[in-house]
Amino acid sequence: MKRKNFISRLGLISIHFWLYPILGSCSKSTPGEDRIEEPSSSFNKLDDASIGEVNTSNFELNISQNTATLGKYTMEAYLTNGLLGCPTIRANRGDYMTINFLNNTDAQSILHWHGLIVPPEMDGHPHLAIPPGENYPYAYLIDQRAGTYFYHAHTHGLTGKQVYMGIAGFYLVSDAEEKALSLPSGAFEIPLLIQDKRTSGDSIQYNPSPMEYNMMGFLGDTIFINHLPNAAKTVKKTSYRLRVLNGSNARIYNLAFENHMPFTIIGTDGGLLEEPVTLTEVLISPAERLDIIVDFSKLSISQVALLSTTPNATLTSGMGMGMGMQSGGPDQGAPFTLLTFNIENDKATPTYNIPSVLSSIDYPDESSATLSREISLDMLMQAGHAINNRQFDMESVEYEIPRGSVEIWEFTNNSSMAHPMHIHGVQFRILSRTGRGVQEWEKGLKDTVLVLPGEVVRILIHFTVLPGLYLFHCHNLEHEDRGMMLNFRIT
Ligand code: C2O
Ligand code: CU
Ligand code: CU
Repeated sequence: MKRKNFISRLGLISIHFWLYPILGSCSKSTPGEDRIEEPSSSFNKLDDASIGEVNTSNFELNISQNTATLGKYTMEAYLTNGLLGCPTIRANRGDYMTINFLNNTDAQSILHWHGLIVPPEMDGHPHLAIPPGENYPYAYLIDQRAGTYFYHAHTHGLTGKQVYMGIAGFYLVSDAEEKALSLPSGAFEIPLLIQDKRTSGDSIQYNPSPMEYNMMGFLGDTIFINHLPNAAKTVKKTSYRLRVLNGSNARIYNLAFENHMPFTIIGTDGGLLEEPVTLTEVLISPAERLDIIVDFSKLSISQVALLSTTPNATLTSGMGMGMGMQSGGPDQGAPFTLLTFNIENDKATPTYNIPSVLSSIDYPDESSATLSREISLDMLMQAGHAINNRQFDMESVEYEIPRGSVEIWEFTNNSSMAHPMHIHGVQFRILSRTGRGVQEWEKGLKDTVLVLPGEVVRILIHFTVLPGLYLFHCHNLEHEDRGMMLNFRIT
């Protein structure tokens, strides 16, 4: 139906590719034109990859399949309303969302609103997956803090494939507290969906081996930002708000600028931090989000800022990754350039003054916890990764939790792999972590926490969501698809 749009947009992108070198050669006579630092064909302008936006509270997400072009690569992809990937949904606290999901793919599917606290039948549990040709009507109220949330397919055994091939997008919620901060917006707010994919010639593949399922997950060899490889973005000499989502199946990034330029984290999974945290590198594991303010005003026109992932000692030590395990992509922790920022020929414009207090987080404290659960992350001899030595079973319920209770969950990682642990229907606080401790930027609300090999991480959870069935699982999607996931029920 909307295929026309899709084709014309692809047309536009490819025309642009051909024209770019020509425009480039004229750029001396047009001073406002982007500078070209390298042969232009090696860059793909992020603006051309606009992932689209939905600004209403009543809409349709019609997901279908087709071959799509991602820079020079092609992929058997999932399209939403005819366009590759999923559009960014923008909503406000208090909005009542009615979203009709149409499954026009060849497999069953269901959508999960990662980080949103919604009733059980709205949460996209895999037992709700619908067959091809059917629709699922979602209707729920957004009643939680502003934040950078995430939506994606959650079909048991197929989540990895469906997310990788395009069923993943941003869900940006705003509220009065956030609006009062007048954060950079419009062209100065950039959602960055980071995914790594494995390429073979000009095509993109998803074919995890049994070893990859059981060990490190599916690691790609090429980084895609908003579905574009070698992505570049022209920026002015001022502050930008980057909304970063690690939408990769298994890869963890140690985000940094190659010139070691500092940046400021103002929010994470569950919204704004109470206080901003300025640093030069930060680990982000699959499904985690970072809300970042970066100031490009000190760079000069000839400079490019490269957002990259750099080796991180904590990440690579203790993990089995350097041990020659067969993976089709560069190892976990391998360096990559993620995105090139080209500084536009423009005089510095006023930068955003980051307030020293951003927000206040209202959450029960540790003393109100009534129960503490020890949860082990294990590796089973044949079957792969497990939680409490068990693997997912649609019908089994690991924990029954009375609504309103506050609990402490203690994750112990007994395996040699990293596990980003995610819990549905809640935002939690991280109380402690052995070894590297709780990072400053992890002190807000979280729905996903990275548990590295050997670490013990304690979190505090207030279960306010309506009674029903929910999940907790590893967000390494190959681990999840092969059963590193359990049910819990709110009673
Ligand atoms: Cu983002 Cu259950 O997942
Ligand atoms: Cu979730
Ligand atoms: Cu895992």
